[in-house]
Amino acid sequence: MNYKKMFPMFKNNKGIVYLDNSALTFKPYEVIEEGNNFYEKYSISTRTSDSILGIEVAKKIIDSRKIIGNFIDAKLNETLFTSGTTESLNLAISMLSKIIYDGEIILTYFNHNSNIIPFFEQFKNNNCKFIFALDTNDIISKITNKTKIISLSQITNNFNINFDLKKIYEIASKKNIILINDAAQAISHEKVTLKNSDIIAFSSNKIFGPTGMGILAIKENLLEKLSPQKWGGGQVINVKGCNWTSKNDIQKFEPGTLNFAGIFQFKKAIEFISNIGYETINKIEMELANYAYEKLIKVKDLQLASKKGDKIIMFNIKNISSQDVASYLGHNNIYVRSGVFCAHSFTNLKGYDKSYVRLSLSFYNTKTDINKLVKYLKKGEYFDFL
Ligand SMILES: Cc1ncc(COP(=O)(O)O)c(C=O)c1O
Repeated sequence: MNYKKMFPMFKNNKGIVYLDNSALTFKPYEVIEEGNNFYEKYSISTRTSDSILGIEVAKKIIDSRKIIGNFIDAKLNETLFTSGTTESLNLAISMLSKIIYDGEIILTYFNHNSNIIPFFEQFKNNNCKFIFALDTNDIISKITNKTKIISLSQITNNFNINFDLKKIYEIASKKNIILINDAAQAISHEKVTLKNSDIIAFSSNKIFGPTGMGILAIKENLLEKLSPQKWGGGQVINVKGCNWTSKNDIQKFEPGTLNFAGIFQFKKAIEFISNIGYETINKIEMELANYAYEKLIKVKDLQLASKKGDKIIMFNIKNISSQDVASYLGHNNIYVRSGVFCAHSFTNLKGYDKSYVRLSLSFYNTKTDINKLVKYLKKGEYFDFL
């Protein structure tokens, strides 16, 4: 099956080898067309509610919320639209900082900055201690009676840590600890479910959907205790003097005009990935990951930092900066990344380099992509490519 045919980026960028899927995935035709579909046929606000099209758009938004929520086993009233994982995490952490004033918060060294810095900022006036952990066992060993929140990524965007979310949640939920799953990476590779965490955040841009869209799913019983951290139109029942009364449904948390076109496209993206299925995706990606590993270990001076089977592969080339490697590949139409990928905390650990080259796979990649990458790495003309 030639999956690349489903994505116009491949047609319009002949010969592109795209290996930065952790940053953004390409969009299939049907997702792109759905944006036009909204603007050409439905371009009405849900607030224009006394009209045929206004009602139709509102129905479609509810339908999208249902389908996207269902995808992660969240109910309609547990699924909030945001602009992406970063906004989802910022909102969740901000809301939590208004109900948790002391105690301990466990984060991991491999968290994305979006799952660390909002904690530092939102909790800076609270009396909370941050504790960093390495893996599942380390998290469990660091849980105490003071632990209030654990926040991790089901799949990280750097080293493959394999957190056992089910095991962590079993312990956390018994101790009333809130577990946050930053599913930005996991969502395009494997099942993500609100059954094994209290809060889930992800972006649609990494799941073949539009940029500027995301989900914040919060379990009903927790959401009831939280108050919005954004205010404006759409959430108000009435205003009397300086007091206002809030609606008591999901709209309470979503003031302002939503990204309707984005929501239409997001739903299409979820349908797209559902049709292909995680099983197929995983099979293709695993085969590619193993293939890439076998090829990369044979490249002279290449120091592989990931394990066999990792779908995100980190490496360095001896005595060449990671940016020089990425730049050389990038100018040869091979897209990878260099740096620490907004996950600076792991560089505090011993044994890790300050920067890496990263390639991240998607199901539309092929062995030909890997062969081209390896061919250029073997050539190694790092300073002679422009
Ligand atoms: C694990 C993880 N969390 C959070 C983010 C932030 O996602 P976004 O930039 O879509 O908000 C990313 C982005 O790469 C990520 O990989």
